[in-house]
Amino acid sequence: MNDNKVQIFDTTLRDGEQVPGCKLDTSQKLIIAERLDNLGVDIIEAGFPVSSPGDFNSVSEISKLVKNATVCGLTRAVKKDIEVAAEALKGAIKPRIHTGIGTSDSHILHKFNTTQEEVIQRAKQAVSHAKNFVDDVEFYAEDAGRTSNEFLAKVCEEVIQAGATVLNIPDTTGYCLPEEYGAKIKYLKEHVKGIGNVTISCHCHNDLGLATANSIAGAINGARQIECTINGIGERAGNTALEEVVMILKQHPYLNLQTDINTKLLYDTSLMVREKMGMPVQPNKAIVGANAFAHSSGIHQDGVIKNRETYEIINPEEVGVTESAIILTARSGRAALAYRAKKIGYELTKIQLDSAYQTFLKFADKQKEVIDEDIHLIMEQVNKFSKIAML
Ligand code: KIV
Ligand code: ZN
Repeated sequence: MNDNKVQIFDTTLRDGEQVPGCKLDTSQKLIIAERLDNLGVDIIEAGFPVSSPGDFNSVSEISKLVKNATVCGLTRAVKKDIEVAAEALKGAIKPRIHTGIGTSDSHILHKFNTTQEEVIQRAKQAVSHAKNFVDDVEFYAEDAGRTSNEFLAKVCEEVIQAGATVLNIPDTTGYCLPEEYGAKIKYLKEHVKGIGNVTISCHCHNDLGLATANSIAGAINGARQIECTINGIGERAGNTALEEVVMILKQHPYLNLQTDINTKLLYDTSLMVREKMGMPVQPNKAIVGANAFAHSSGIHQDGVIKNRETYEIINPEEVGVTESAIILTARSGRAALAYRAKKIGYELTKIQLDSAYQTFLKFADKQKEVIDEDIHLIMEQVNKFSKIAML
């Protein structure tokens, strides 16, 4: 495999779907899974099969449907979970079992009331058991973000020996700073025997708004898989947003890290997930928010009309958005008004524009946004004194 390829592991249907209000039925999950496969994700985490008969059924149906991606099922480090996941994944062309256990002091003490040694034993047994069913076994060290690097390295070494193919290093609580998370991945690369034969995966949560930054720091330091969700949905403040990591890697070619995502499908996929989950996206969300390519201040609008790149680092068409939007508000200038008027057929002279702009400001001071219907009314006013050329 290309050393510079970052595999995209999508967990919209598992970590994303477990959020209250985001529940999907099997038919909705199948539609999203098919879209993720077409989008070019490398791994689809389809669910947590032991958690309910419905989830088992979804993983099983997705396994039969998906043509290109690996299909993955989550388990705890529990024999029964692993057996149920293996059963659900039977129809998959490329099945993966994702098993693991908490490794931080907090999890070892409060969740399991056990010792580090016992956690290592359970981790090894889970990986070995999963290997009886599939070749591809991913191990997660839950709360790795708050686990000491030394203990984490020990756990990783043991599970590699037990047959793990992918090591997931989750910042489960979204605690780490990018530098710290990047250093953790670097530490593992440098201290774990056999690490060169497995893929390191980043799984970051967004409690401090750092999920994307941490995932990128992980990739820069040697991780070659990023776990993420469409629109960044997920537990609490969410997971790393797929569209963000993909576009960061694309917009920074000097990092020399690539994904296989067809970015032209990003916006449409985001809309599909919003609609199916009934989970709206904030307007200022990077890449896929309603305002991601909308310009409203006069200075920015003037720049974008002259050359889009003055205020845009991404061509909207690259992510499937038809074009940048020039929004007319009281902060807009003459250039924006002329641009929008032209779009609906009016070619104004300089004198006509001056006059139209005075009327426009009256509209704009009264309402949040001046829309096309208002522009027609403004043009009617101007037309009374001077005939506007129509395009
Ligand atoms: O955040 C997390 O630690 C997880 C694991 C179950 C992979 O979602
Ligand atoms: Zn998670």
